[in-house]
Amino acid sequence: VQVIHITGARPNFPKAAPVIRALDGCHVRQQLVHTGQHYDERMSEVFFRQLGLPEPELNLAVGSGSHAFQTGEIMNRLERLFQTARPGLVVVYGDVNSTVAAALVAAKLGIPIAHVEAGLRSFNRSMPEEVNRLVTDRLSDLLFATSPDALVNLGNEGINADRVFFTGNPMIDTLMANLHRFDVAAARAQLSLPERYVVATLHRPSNVDNPGDAAELVKALHAVADQTHIVLPLHPRGRNSLADAGLFLHPNLRVADPLGYVEFLSLVRGAKAVLTDSGGVQEETTMLGIPCLTLRDETERPVTVTQGTNRLVTRENLAEEVRGVLAAGHRAAGWPTPPLWDGRAGARIAEVIERFVGTH
Ligand code: UD1
Ligand code: UDP
Repeated sequence: VQVIHITGARPNFPKAAPVIRALDGCHVRQQLVHTGQHYDERMSEVFFRQLGLPEPELNLAVGSGSHAFQTGEIMNRLERLFQTARPGLVVVYGDVNSTVAAALVAAKLGIPIAHVEAGLRSFNRSMPEEVNRLVTDRLSDLLFATSPDALVNLGNEGINADRVFFTGNPMIDTLMANLHRFDVAAARAQLSLPERYVVATLHRPSNVDNPGDAAELVKALHAVADQTHIVLPLHPRGRNSLADAGLFLHPNLRVADPLGYVEFLSLVRGAKAVLTDSGGVQEETTMLGIPCLTLRDETERPVTVTQGTNRLVTRENLAEEVRGVLAAGHRAAGWPTPPLWDGRAGARIAEVIERFVGTH
């Protein structure tokens, strides 16, 4: 095998799909591995079906656990695989535990690493993903950046510019390739939603893990639900703590199971606004021109604020900010979107990878 792709969690799948597809056309022998970090049908399998990803050659089935347990188990199981398969390159995506685990194993075995979505920084190390990003970028041989700020961050960390490629955003390739499948009317009908609604997604530990934070968050969501209908496809992480905090008690707040990619983005496309703490959703709303209110203190995706529809908000000012965006409406069409978010990132990444495996 020349290239092994490592995926494991929901946000990995729409990033990997366009890279794998583009490499298919390059005569590179590739394999897809699933770590099993996410395993529910709605967190994993549905994306394989909807995004046309090949069936993984191997599922490591690590499942859930503490950070050390999950990362360690993935490392253990991947080490055996890499020793046997001896790939010429391991490709990792984003900032989840599967990403950093694969990078550590490959680095110790002397196998080159490519990191898709390199250089994003929140500058907040209490966020587990920030640690994963720092370590993965440090160890990578090919770093594929999705935005100009990422190039600056990598430069500031002393990472050799020869390794860094500004290739654009493969998650946006997937969004653009699937635009024609987004069906607002069907998504609304499926969830019995009125014409005006906002979509929420929340799963960051800093918002949902601690009962005090969860209670504050539920209070803020209920204040929004006093103004408009909310639909919240809920990540399994927040389910218990938010339920305990009374999430389900407001009649205008509709909690749903996590949705498939097409169903979720259909819903987003028809929304008046989106409230989120997701990374990927900040980017997708920017491309779709839907106002996005991000419940976080900082974002590792600043172009979604400077050149997009995103705005950082707090639990305290959320209801007021929603009132503002509902009054202002959507961004007019034709605004410039971030550079190279053009649907061709996968092809650019594949070109660099093909050259690399051909010469190493
Ligand atoms: C992970 C990523 C996060 C990403 C998120 C996307 C890390 C450190 N975090 O967070 O960056 O934004 O995925 O969705 O890698 N669970 C299920 N079913 C599943 C998977 C998880 O019920 O299929 C539950 C389990 O109780 C588990 C919890 O969700 O303990 C958390 O899962 P985990 O993969 O550890 O982290 P996420 O919060 O999903
Ligand atoms: N997503 C989805 N169904 C949902 C919620 C999110 O398909 O119910 C998609 C979303 O459109 C994006 C990806 O999942 O493509 C983002 O994953 P997530 O928010 O879990 O992770 P993050 O980006 O925060 O790491």
